[in-house]
Amino acid sequence: MAREIVKPLWTLFSAIFLIYLVNGAAQPQVPCYFIFGDSLSDSGNNNCLFTVAKANFRPYGIDFPRGPTGRFSNGRNLVDAVAELLGLDSYIPPFATARGMEILKGVNYASGSAGIRNETGRQVGQIISMAMQLQNHQSIVKQIASLRGNNYSSAEEYLGKCIYSVGIGTNDYFINYFVSLSNTSRQYTPQQYARVLIEQYSQQLRTLYNFGARKIALFGLGAIGSAPSEVAACGTKGSSCVAYINSAVQIFNGRLKSLVQELNSNLTNAKFIYIDYYGIGSSYALSRGSLITNVSCCGVKNGLNTCIPFQIPCRNRTRFMFWDGIHPTEATNVFIAARAYKAEFLTDAFPYDIHSLAQLS
Ligand SMILES: *[C@@H]1O[C@H](CO)[C@@H](O)[C@H](O)[C@H]1NC(C)=O
Ligand SMILES: *[C@@H]1O[C@H](CO)[C@@H](O)[C@H](O)[C@H]1NC(C)=O
Ligand SMILES: *[C@@H]1O[C@H](CO)[C@@H](O)[C@H](O)[C@H]1NC(C)=O
Ligand SMILES: *[C@@H]1O[C@H](CO)[C@@H](O)[C@H](O)[C@H]1NC(C)=O
Ligand SMILES: *[C@@H]1O[C@H](CO)[C@@H](O)[C@H](O)[C@H]1NC(C)=O
Ligand SMILES: *[C@@H]1O[C@H](CO)[C@@H](O)[C@H](O)[C@H]1NC(C)=O
Repeated sequence: MAREIVKPLWTLFSAIFLIYLVNGAAQPQVPCYFIFGDSLSDSGNNNCLFTVAKANFRPYGIDFPRGPTGRFSNGRNLVDAVAELLGLDSYIPPFATARGMEILKGVNYASGSAGIRNETGRQVGQIISMAMQLQNHQSIVKQIASLRGNNYSSAEEYLGKCIYSVGIGTNDYFINYFVSLSNTSRQYTPQQYARVLIEQYSQQLRTLYNFGARKIALFGLGAIGSAPSEVAACGTKGSSCVAYINSAVQIFNGRLKSLVQELNSNLTNAKFIYIDYYGIGSSYALSRGSLITNVSCCGVKNGLNTCIPFQIPCRNRTRFMFWDGIHPTEATNVFIAARAYKAEFLTDAFPYDIHSLAQLS
């Protein structure tokens, strides 16, 4: 009699196990994920910095299980959503607090208000520029090598399997070039500025490659001109002002896409990809006819683009594209991450999407 029960139970158990294997639920697609960038990716690095670019107070995090954490959104940010899609079992910890063995799964170096240029964001306080994020990564690489018995070839092999994402450059426009009478706008035309930025970014990406990174996803810039803060700043100058800003960032995006191609052909075994953040964001706005795109969900102070602390935000966050003056809502982040991960159109990702990048050996 016992046998009669055991057999069906065993069959059931095997069936469940098989489903589990097929779904691959517990199987992350990569062992590690390292994140560089600005407030679109920051998960708490600015909390202890002396800066106004902070998001560790309500209403930020209102839809995040742990509440306000320093993420510049109501809930998950772009890289949280990417981490979920990669099957990682937790979000990547910020460099400010990452300790011990957890660094093996990846570290998030991103800092709100940071840019490609060292001076970008300085006017709002302390920042961790892209150059400094790379220095922080260098110290983590050393710790990883030591965790692997100071065997550098083993550390290199491991680091080559990780996914890296970099989303930076927005602030080089938003709080640098397009600040009225800025040094950079007096010095460069939009064409020249994009070239100068891409040259510096190219050097930074080579440094990242030299630290063992091989699978690198680069997020292009969004339609900054159409964000509520710029729409408000353009004021009566209206749509031509918005269009001028958007065309400047598109020059940068075009050059970034070419850079991906160049780096892939110049650097042995490099697998850089470009994510069309601008195009995916625009198609989100178009696909949801009733989406509110020109007004932020939370109340923002004039001149500042972050939420007024402790004010009650809009009720239905999914109806809004933007959470504050410049940062997307969780719903927008999740949509963009999904298309970056699994491209729906050929133009979403170049030459392929994050899912394909993860599968490559
Ligand atoms: C930017 O800062 C880093 C140190 O954080 C320095 O090594 C680098 O030379 C600086 N770059 C420029 C262009 O000033
Ligand atoms: C270092 O790691 C490599 C690659 O994993 C391995 O082949 C080699 O045997 C290791 N060397 C030592 C001294 O453990
Ligand atoms: C602009 O240039 C001037 C003169 O070179 C310099 O003193 C100032 O710090 C610069 N401002 C910024 C924001 O970099
Ligand atoms: C790639 O190599 C070509 C030919 O050597 C060189 O002209 C170009 O500047 C390199 N580009 C990058 C991004 O390294
Ligand atoms: C936002 O767009 C709506 C609909 O197009 C328009 O009625 C409203 O005036 C706009 N608000 C701002 C602040 O631009
Ligand atoms: C929130 O907005 C979405 C999109 O417009 C809509 O589908 C949903 O029903 C709204 N939810 C509530 C609770 O109003």
